[in-house]
Amino acid sequence: TPAIRPLIAGNWKMHGTSASLGELEAIGEGFAAAAGDGADGLICVPATLISRASGVLGSTPVSVGGQDCHAAESGAHTGDIAAEMLADCGASHVIVGHSERRTDHRESDADVAAKAQAAWRAGVVAIICLGETRRQREAGETLAVLSRQVAGSVPAEATAENAVIAYEPVWAIGTGLTPTTKDVAEAHAHLRAELEKKIGEEAKRTRLLYGGSVKPANARELLSILNVDGALIGGASLKAADFLGISEATR
Ligand code: G3P
Repeated sequence: TPAIRPLIAGNWKMHGTSASLGELEAIGEGFAAAAGDGADGLICVPATLISRASGVLGSTPVSVGGQDCHAAESGAHTGDIAAEMLADCGASHVIVGHSERRTDHRESDADVAAKAQAAWRAGVVAIICLGETRRQREAGETLAVLSRQVAGSVPAEATAENAVIAYEPVWAIGTGLTPTTKDVAEAHAHLRAELEKKIGEEAKRTRLLYGGSVKPANARELLSILNVDGALIGGASLKAADFLGISEATR
């Protein structure tokens, strides 16, 4: 199987105003020196910052993404944002199905799949998130949950070019806790196999990111695990020094 080019992606969640553009600039300027030319960088900023982030990062190797989109192209959906609108502002990627949206907005696997389709309609790469809760892990249901989420959240039209899968164990998000190397390896091998059932050979080239308490201190170990093709970083992506420290671990 061919080597997969790693993707180091940040998710700023509901953080960031114009005051944060300097941090973004530092990320853009430092990425090539940190990661070399063997990896891609991405920061998914709040929708309010996408246009300006595109301006700041436009001439750097770091792309700009959104954090969610509506399934429709337009319509009477006050407060929602279409994938076409994200693309229009300069976003090349969009996160769909993050556990915070699955919880806060009760998004189902079917909703997530519809959002991925919407991203593709707009020419945007969908970063499809999934992962088990603490209760599901303790009940020994992790692999079954991942199977169900791949089957329901990943449309059959997914390819290595239009989709990225992010495994984020819910209990590892923002907690400082991470699964063991063995558990990450098991989950990612399982995801690769489940994805192959769904989209065939494409699954071998599709990026599988790990997310949940990734820091400069644990990045090298996490990124060295088989079938881990990058990271989706929350808290540590808000500081250029941390994001760049993690990016160094791709070398
Ligand atoms: O999408 C990334 C995120 O959920 C992980 O957050 O803060 O644990 O890196 P954090």
